[in-house]
Amino acid sequence: MQLTDDEKAMRDGRDGRAVARAMDLLTRYGEALGAERLVETRNVTGTVTATTPFMRDFAEQRGGMDAVFSEFSLDSDEVVEIPRVKTFTSHLQLGFDPNEPERMGVSEETVTFYRKSEAFAGRMGVQLMNTCTPYQVGNVPTRGEHCAWMESSAVIYCNGVLGARTNTEGRESVGAAMLTSRIPYWGYHLDENRLGTHRIELDVPVESTADWGMLGYYVGEVVQDKVPVVDGVRAVPNLQRLKHFGAAAASSGGVEMYHLVGITPEANTFEQAIGKRRAVPTLRYGAAERRAVYERLNANGNRTEVDYVMLGCPHYTIEQIWEASVLLEGRRVHENCELWIFTPRAIKTLADQNGYTKIIEDAGGHIFSDSCSAMSRAVPKDTRVVAMDSAKQAHYLPAILGVEAWFGSTADCIDAACSGRWDGRLA
Ligand code: F3S
Repeated sequence: MQLTDDEKAMRDGRDGRAVARAMDLLTRYGEALGAERLVETRNVTGTVTATTPFMRDFAEQRGGMDAVFSEFSLDSDEVVEIPRVKTFTSHLQLGFDPNEPERMGVSEETVTFYRKSEAFAGRMGVQLMNTCTPYQVGNVPTRGEHCAWMESSAVIYCNGVLGARTNTEGRESVGAAMLTSRIPYWGYHLDENRLGTHRIELDVPVESTADWGMLGYYVGEVVQDKVPVVDGVRAVPNLQRLKHFGAAAASSGGVEMYHLVGITPEANTFEQAIGKRRAVPTLRYGAAERRAVYERLNANGNRTEVDYVMLGCPHYTIEQIWEASVLLEGRRVHENCELWIFTPRAIKTLADQNGYTKIIEDAGGHIFSDSCSAMSRAVPKDTRVVAMDSAKQAHYLPAILGVEAWFGSTADCIDAACSGRWDGRLA
């Protein structure tokens, strides 16, 4: 791989041992990928903090958070002193909400260690947004901006909706990127890899958030890790609909980039979206495909008694919290059911200020930040049946926790929370 003089100086230790380790890691990573060079990035999103007892023990035995970062973010057995980040970096979701340890089944000891690791990240200059949706709390890269992001639902939003450029990075590559401002120039950083490979023609209207989740789940299943171009969208989707679409497509398949003709930034026309490819296979999404997806997402549901309603995957927007509060106002969560909603810290603050948190808590629900049930592996005690409005969470939670899952609209989920029973159906 060709390195610039500045990159060679970083590799050779000009900026200290940690930066040298980071540049060595990026060089090895880039060579394994077949990248010819690195590209400058001024936007990194990843994970630095540590939230598990394993990490706590590792830090105690090996020399604190510098040792954790050296081993798990720089692939370095040698413990090096970690400097401040060189480029803007935001933090992703974590393993639990440190303000709700008891409800999430986390010990005080783990929370104390987590607070230390969060202070370490803060000192490094990492922005503690603590969400899988950095784009809704201030990290909104511009079209064409080269980024280094982790988290599949964020990556697909970054590429598809914002027209910024990132591959799905890991803890190690973002750790190295934040210390060097560099990432290998390959994959979705390159124009040709962003062109559409499949046309998805819509034969039915796709409007609600649940509908966009179902469409995303279908698209991921049929294109896997390719680049779909969705044509025939009749109603322009908002942020939350695209959030659910992308998260679902990245779960049932490995979609990292997509186009909606006439809507997303690199698809003013179908021809622009596929560019030099000229022709691509066409798949049709109609009533039969929609029903089949709904049935697949509900294939794990059996008992109609619902123990737990989980909302906020990906993390809820303020609009979704507002909608949930309107649906809940004056009602009561059933005594045999729990309602948990997950959102970024900043949006939880806004929900508190707007009075939505009070409405939700008065009804018996709870709002958490920083994590979710899949990340934390935390659900209310004795949960066997979960209802949710996220195709992504319906895909993962049964596999992670062995629970039964129902998928439906937000209104279906709130009804289930209040009645303790699943009565959702395809509208
Ligand atoms: Fe976010 Fe958890 Fe879903 S991290 S995308 S809420 S699985």
